[in-house]
Amino acid sequence: MSSDEQNKLWGGRFTEGTDAFVQAFTASVQFDKRLAPYDVQGSIAHAKVLQHVGLLTEQECQQIVTGLTDILDDINRGDFAWSVALEDVHMNIEARLTDKIGVAGKKLHTGRSRNDQVATDIRLFMREHIALVRAELKRLQTGLLELAEKNHDTIMPGFTHLQVAQPVTFGHHLMAWFEMLTRDAQRLEDCAKRTNIMPLGSAALAGTSYPIDREYAAKLLGFDAPSNNSLDAVSDRDFAIEFCSAASIIMMHLSRFSEEIVLWTSAQYDFIQLPDAFCTGSSIMPQKKNPDVPELVRGKTGRVYGHLMSLLTLMKSQPLAYNKDNQEDKEPIFDTVDTVLGSLRAFADMVPNIKANKDAMYAAAKQGFSTATDLADSLVGKGIPFRDAHEIVGLAVRLGVETQRDLSELSLEELQGFSPEITNDVFDVLTLEGSVSARNHIGGTAPEQVKQAVLTAKASLVGKA
Ligand code: ARG
Repeated sequence: MSSDEQNKLWGGRFTEGTDAFVQAFTASVQFDKRLAPYDVQGSIAHAKVLQHVGLLTEQECQQIVTGLTDILDDINRGDFAWSVALEDVHMNIEARLTDKIGVAGKKLHTGRSRNDQVATDIRLFMREHIALVRAELKRLQTGLLELAEKNHDTIMPGFTHLQVAQPVTFGHHLMAWFEMLTRDAQRLEDCAKRTNIMPLGSAALAGTSYPIDREYAAKLLGFDAPSNNSLDAVSDRDFAIEFCSAASIIMMHLSRFSEEIVLWTSAQYDFIQLPDAFCTGSSIMPQKKNPDVPELVRGKTGRVYGHLMSLLTLMKSQPLAYNKDNQEDKEPIFDTVDTVLGSLRAFADMVPNIKANKDAMYAAAKQGFSTATDLADSLVGKGIPFRDAHEIVGLAVRLGVETQRDLSELSLEELQGFSPEITNDVFDVLTLEGSVSARNHIGGTAPEQVKQAVLTAKASLVGKA
């Protein structure tokens, strides 16, 4: 496309065409064409508002609506010639509309600027994609609940410092992940509210002299309200920063989750098995079954953090109102959406198919004196101050280490050597089952509590987006 064609849209005050490299350098159509459905949606609403206030005839409005609908069909079919000379998605569509329907097409931009147009498009894009991310999150949460229910009494070691600490139930561990995702969903829900505000009508920066009806436009587009300040509405992208921040926290959670899956599928742990469909082999080592999906999700976390930094930096020194810098918001936004959606999708498909190797988990929980705290607690029950009980159990653990036995394998006589208060019922609390069942309070690891937590969580998901 020649620069003559470009001049049709904003070239009136120029005497020379744009340098070819500058034209390509400043263009965004290569990536913002992804906004086409939202651009058409926004333009159709704008045309209806123009008709509503008498700035377009009914026939002109109808021509615009039909023209834009046909253009979107062409785009969806891949039958649209995008032109870099026309710079961005907005001017490509508008130019095509005028080609198609003539003079009515030239009236569409009345009372509007690309500045409020693009800000509206991105908010429409974000609104739709926040809903998709929320749906994938919910699917993953549902899968976690299924697995947690199955494993409400599966015993595994709980860790601190990656050292065996106390036995927990696998269901309880899974519900920890569920809780993280619940907060992630809340953050998205909150960010969706601030996203759903309509910039349209702010025009370039100062608003418009035409008697447009912004409430009507907001209603047509499903926005909660028109924006309060035109300068702010065309320039800020804080809603996108908020989304990338929420997405970064989701990825951070998925990355922690991934790290545990990678550890647990290793031969050294062997706590879980991933379905073959989520693993890949090695081209040289025939025995390998690598946990590629969690590794990749862990790796992808970095790019989402990067996009958050890009957007924060993009905004940090911009004076009011719109600046071309803002064109750089699209790629980080799109890639964040794609990355977080893909990662959640992979996890939502994978998690319900995880198999727990219960025997390996149980055996690992038996190591590392994981019931030492239970022994101390039982001594406290016999009137011994906790600090003294801690000391007594420390000595028992030392004997266990020296003789390579677990606490439950020491004899009653040996234990009584550390404290005469110890009686035969001590062996009840030294078992893994006794240890987990004893933690029977809200937020505790007892199988009964996990069952209850799953039930409560299931109810909390009902009706959620
Ligand atoms: N492609 C531009 C963007 O993404 C659209 C707005 C252009 N506005 C302007 N005044 N040059 O931000």
